[in-house]
Amino acid sequence: MCGIVGYVGHGKAKTVILEGLEKLEYRGYDSAGIAVIKDSEIIIEKKKGRLQNLENHLKDIDLDSDIGIGHTRWATHGEPSDKNSHPHYNRDKTIAVVHNGIIENYSLIKKDLKEKGYIFESDTDTEVVAHLLDFLYEGDLFDAVTKMLKVIRGSYALGIIHKDFPKELICTRKDSPLVIGIGNNENFIASDVPAILKHTKNVYFLEDGDIAKISADTIKIFDKTLTPVEREIKVIEWDYEQATKGGYPHFMIKEIFEQPKSIEETLNRRIKNSMPDFSDVLTEEEIKKIDMVHIVACGTAYHAGLQGQFALRKLAKTNSYVEIASEYRYMDPFVTENTLAIFVSQSGETLDTLAALKEAKARGAKTLAITNVVGSTISREADNTIYTMAGPEIAVASTKAYTTQVVMLQLLAIYLAEKKEVMTKTEVKEAINTLYSIPKKIEFTLNESDKIKPISEGLKDKVNGFYIGRGLDFNIALEGSLKMKEISYIHTEAFPAGELKHGSIALIEPGTPVVVIGMQSDLLEKTISNIKELKARGAYIISVGREDCLDLKNVSDSFIGIQDIDDIFSGLLSVIPLQLLSYYTSLSKGIDVDKPRNLAKSVTVE
Ligand code: F6R
Repeated sequence: MCGIVGYVGHGKAKTVILEGLEKLEYRGYDSAGIAVIKDSEIIIEKKKGRLQNLENHLKDIDLDSDIGIGHTRWATHGEPSDKNSHPHYNRDKTIAVVHNGIIENYSLIKKDLKEKGYIFESDTDTEVVAHLLDFLYEGDLFDAVTKMLKVIRGSYALGIIHKDFPKELICTRKDSPLVIGIGNNENFIASDVPAILKHTKNVYFLEDGDIAKISADTIKIFDKTLTPVEREIKVIEWDYEQATKGGYPHFMIKEIFEQPKSIEETLNRRIKNSMPDFSDVLTEEEIKKIDMVHIVACGTAYHAGLQGQFALRKLAKTNSYVEIASEYRYMDPFVTENTLAIFVSQSGETLDTLAALKEAKARGAKTLAITNVVGSTISREADNTIYTMAGPEIAVASTKAYTTQVVMLQLLAIYLAEKKEVMTKTEVKEAINTLYSIPKKIEFTLNESDKIKPISEGLKDKVNGFYIGRGLDFNIALEGSLKMKEISYIHTEAFPAGELKHGSIALIEPGTPVVVIGMQSDLLEKTISNIKELKARGAYIISVGREDCLDLKNVSDSFIGIQDIDDIFSGLLSVIPLQLLSYYTSLSKGIDVDKPRNLAKSVTVE
């Protein structure tokens, strides 16, 4: 969702901020703006629409400055428009504010400020912060910010400048991410690391309630009691190149092609002497106590969770259940101290997942995060964290984060299985070997990606479609369908293959595309019967199965063959053609693949 970039240093504010905002475009936004202090004035420029609009508008405007803040806004309060874009001024234009999150009590504050004579230019919740600071300001910006924080409620990451403090940037956060980048005679703030990776890999992750006072050569951090604190400097392992397209036309296709490497790195991180090792997050004693595993996540991460549940049940003989995070905390989850609650989130910032984590913790569960982002809020809130090694995922549609989450959950299941002695050491080693064979097998599919293009050409004008599968294949169908919806805008639904005939088959017409995943050997015959029912009603069948599976190929209109693999790990292979199918369909429809409409990469509102 919204993105913040701030800079204080020497002369480069405009360039650093605009380049940084570009790197945050993937988070999703509908307007962009910048504020700098120049010649003792604050200048704000902002525009509705893509960042390019703002950049075009700024071409002939001299904004060279030592200090500034920038923002990409994803509308919550007030439509996307120039006036609702951030930054926001106070009344005499001495203060500028950018904000991510939601000020929950903004209407009360707004009413109060209006009574005091303040005039509001926008419909946003953020503007109250600028006017409230104005009201509380008595010559010391930091002091005004601390007073303002006592009044506002909700979630926020804030960047604030004042024209009388042209060398000082103030930032603060609660329930919304914000990092401080440590430079050499220059410092940065950003909602996410890729925005500043070009300039530094050394960062502070602020804790909830922290306030920082930043100049070109000092960073002073205070906790919520206003006590000066030393936060640990974290060194980011990601490279700047990983956050660029590196010759690919889109981030999504680059990230699809990165999966062999990211899966291998994820395996390497957790396999020691050919055995999975999670002893740093789960001791044998803790494992013995676990009688239930909850896996909680949203969207694609939820689909990874479904595969995790499958592995936990099949391999580790462990009771497990997966829930959508936005539902979890409202369903009175049954949690005991023997519940292990796993929260899966690429960004580590998804508010629904974070709220569910807090709920499980409050109910006494042992909490474990699986996330891709070091220092993210979810990683800090959970009792323990396991990091996937996907590297930065920039495209809105998740691909490599998903497969690395699946690998991590499967490895964790194997680890539990070994500790619970329901798998022998030999079986564990065999499973690990199979997982290590996956990157090569994915490469096989990637090398054949050209074969998928013509299939997507046939899909581009369709309005509806279905994805079906049985058992684990149904979980893959769900993920394939979500990918297709989000980047091609074709309405698809996923069903267990045996379920369509219980109602939804009424929607099948001649030419309706149905994508079938047929990797579960013991269920294949039944899936093929379902295909026949669909074909009899005119469906166009696109199937994904083992390359030598003639039974499936012969009943399909288009067939995508993948390499052989044990049924239980097959989702890591069968999902690849589905990712490619949605990518190429999106391309053939001329959609902005990396930034599909209405979506945000990091969803930090409920
Ligand atoms: C779909 C997609 C989303 C995310 C979901 C959770 O391609 O990316 O469905 O999976 O919003 O996000 P994280 O994993 O960051 O919690």
